[in-house]
Amino acid sequence: MGRGTGYGKTIVFGEHFVVYGLPAIASAITGSTVAVARRVSGHSYSIEDKRPETPGYKEKKKEQQLDSIKRIFEFLGFDPKENAVEILLEGNLVAASGVGASAASCAAIARALNEEFSLGLEDEEINKAAYEGEKGYHGTPSGIDNTAAVYGGLIWFKKGLPGKENTIQRVKIEPVEIVLGNTGITSNTSEVVADVRKKKEANEREFDKIFRDYGKIAESALGAFRENDVESVGKLMNENHSLLQKIGVSCKELEELVETAREQGAVGAKLTGTGRGGLMIALTPGKELQEKVAEAIEATGKTAFRTKIG
Ligand code: MEV
Repeated sequence: MGRGTGYGKTIVFGEHFVVYGLPAIASAITGSTVAVARRVSGHSYSIEDKRPETPGYKEKKKEQQLDSIKRIFEFLGFDPKENAVEILLEGNLVAASGVGASAASCAAIARALNEEFSLGLEDEEINKAAYEGEKGYHGTPSGIDNTAAVYGGLIWFKKGLPGKENTIQRVKIEPVEIVLGNTGITSNTSEVVADVRKKKEANEREFDKIFRDYGKIAESALGAFRENDVESVGKLMNENHSLLQKIGVSCKELEELVETAREQGAVGAKLTGTGRGGLMIALTPGKELQEKVAEAIEATGKTAFRTKIG
């Protein structure tokens, strides 16, 4: 039996911009997905998905999940006709849009197969396999989600130009409390990424300006993290959210969550991940503030996850 883990993640800065080669900052969160691979007799594979979920998430992603697993097998040169395998997915990461659930499961599956079939893969190869798996969920992933899922911690990530390696830098910070508010809506990453691309193509000049503004935010955020300047990180998150509104990836439910978090004193709040549903991240240093924000979100009938970045 082989076991593998993939961390959940939250994007603190730069979702969507990262697709175009701008830097982003992501952090692993405490939840993770665990995959168990078991060699069996026969000539095929099976998958049992026991992850906790936002209602409807797994059903909506089923086809993409099967495509993703096929891609992981292909990348690893693994043929279930020769090596039949049962894969079980579990763990405490709630499968929802915005927590890197797909990337965490890809990383976990690649690790579990690596262990069960002694494939001898190092983390970097696991990361590449998880990246291939991510393509099943959204055709042109930037690579940030699988990188956070494999390595954990807080990372500065910049997608490499075609044929070039990505830039990945670990950033050491004092862990800070956050709240993730869940809209309960499962978003479709490839659809939203494609919409942003269309909008960009139709508004090149406006997007150039937005990208420049975002670039400054990302650099300042890295500096603020290095100095453990949580207040500045929070302000920059708010600015990042405004740019995400401009590119059209927020929605009413996310705005309500952002508003609630800010009203309760979160030092910053923004959507995280794909947007148009999924999750909102609020920076809430200290257990007390974290609890206050989480309870206010729960009082609106939505789910809140209490976790930390860094
Ligand atoms: C999705 O978690 C993050 C996006 O930036 C897409 C990607 O980076 O591949 C929206």
